[in-house]
This record gives sequence, structure tokens and C-alpha cells, in this order.
Amino acid sequence: MKDIFTRSVKKVPALMGKTVCNLFFENSTRTRTSFEIAAKRLSADVVNFNLATSSVAKGESILDTARTIQAMGVDYIIMRHSCPGAPHMLSQRVNMSVINAGDGAHEHPTQGLLDTFTIKDRKGKIEGLKIAIVGDILHSRVARSDVYALTRLGAKVSLVGPSTLVPQWFRTLGCEIHNDLKTGIKDADVINLLRIQLERQQSNLFPSIREYRLLYGLDQERMAWAKPDALIMHPGPVNRGVEISQGVADGPQSVIDEQVTNGIAVRMAILYLLAGGTAPPGN
Ligand code: CP
Repeated sequence: MKDIFTRSVKKVPALMGKTVCNLFFENSTRTRTSFEIAAKRLSADVVNFNLATSSVAKGESILDTARTIQAMGVDYIIMRHSCPGAPHMLSQRVNMSVINAGDGAHEHPTQGLLDTFTIKDRKGKIEGLKIAIVGDILHSRVARSDVYALTRLGAKVSLVGPSTLVPQWFRTLGCEIHNDLKTGIKDADVINLLRIQLERQQSNLFPSIREYRLLYGLDQERMAWAKPDALIMHPGPVNRGVEISQGVADGPQSVIDEQVTNGIAVRMAILYLLAGGTAPPGN
């Protein structure tokens, strides 16, 4: 799929005649736009559902909304919702392909796949790599999806942050837990930084943003604790000056923009495979 990006015409007819509906009940920049571009590069038609002007605002249920979209002949629903399990619930009740674009603090599978793809693309492997995920693990659907993918492929995953934001149960998935940044990212091949999700905090789980930055913010000096060629990743949106300094976010080891580019290829692959595609799409 990535090869298609390098062509002068970045489009193949693989999904011509299919329709994709972006059904986002939460804000998004990257995922929503990425799915739209991915679908268009495969020649599908794309409908962006506008929540604010839809009948959801009048009290229509998710299920009735989805059934209405299905009756219009839509083939895929890309769904983001604040409620964990909402895309799964929908997938059991409609005949369209439902793709989870993030459900509460549960999972963000396409982000997990694009992160894994980016690491494999850069490092040539996943097995044996030391990968540190730093930040608000408790509220992070990205952390969960990354952990499932990366541990299954043989990476050593460390979760780093204050004890209030790093649930101990992650140990059961084969992760190490560190409350100290220096030991958590020591000799890491990859550091994936997460945003503090203030919108999901039910109580004060850390004293202040300033204290968080002092203890867990990654800057140029602290990068010396990891391997010299460590990749710096972030799923976005980035809080510059909190979990990551400006210099590190824009530095030579940062692959943040590459993650976004790779996200389109990964989402093209998902749409294509769900349509029954097997061989690489041609021209
Ligand atoms: N990474 C991610 O999910 O970003 P958005 O919230 O902008 O989609």
C-alpha cells in the first residue's frame, strides 16, 4: 500500500463502488482524516457523518443511526465512541464491516497496527526490542492496543509513569512497570510518549502538569538514557512542553510524522482485506 504513495497518481480502483462512513462520536484529526484518505486512495466513496447536525442530537440511538446508514448501502462504518465496546456492539447487529477507530480507554487497534508497522519498518524487527511507553497508560487505548500487538510479536514492553496512571494489571500482559523515567527508558530502542488525557480524568491522579513534566517529560538530555538510535514516537495529539520537548518532537529520531503517513497505508490494507482482497492491488 505504501508503494502507491510514491506514484504520480496515488490511487487504485480496488474499492470502487464501495462506500465508507466515518461515524465519530469523539473528536479526531489523524484517524478520521487518515481513514478518509485511505478509502479515497482505494477509490471508495466516503461519507463523513456530522454528529452535531445529525439526528443523534435529537436522541436517535447509535443502533438506529447505524441501521439508517446501512439502509443507504454503506459497506464500512469507521466508529469512534467514548464508550468501550460500542464498535463491538454495533458489529454484532449490522451487516456492514465495523472498524474500531478508538473506543473510550479500551482499544485503538489501527493505531496499534500503525505503531507496530512503523517500528518494524525502521528497525527491521519487533522481537527482542525494548519498547518503553511513557505517560497516561490508565486512560490510553493506544497503550492497550500497542501492548497487545508488541508483546505478541516478542517485544519487551515497559510501561512508565506515576503509579496512579500505570495500572499494575498490565503486568499480566507481560509488561514491566516503572515509576521512574530513567530506569523505564534505560537502553530503550523505542520510546512511545502518550498525552495526559485531562478529558478522561475523574480525579486528580497527579499534582500538576508542571510536576508531571519535571518527572516524566522527555527532553534532549534525558534521551541519553535510551539507546543512541532510539525511535521517538507519539500517537498525537502532542502536548509540546509537557510529555515531550519541542526539540525531541521535531528532532532527527522522531518518527511522529512517519506514523501518520504509515497510518494511511495500514488503514488502506485493513479496508482492502475486509473487502476480501488478497493479492496486492494493481493499477
Ligand atoms: N492518534 C489519534 O487517534 O489521533 P486523533 O485523536 O487525532 O484521531
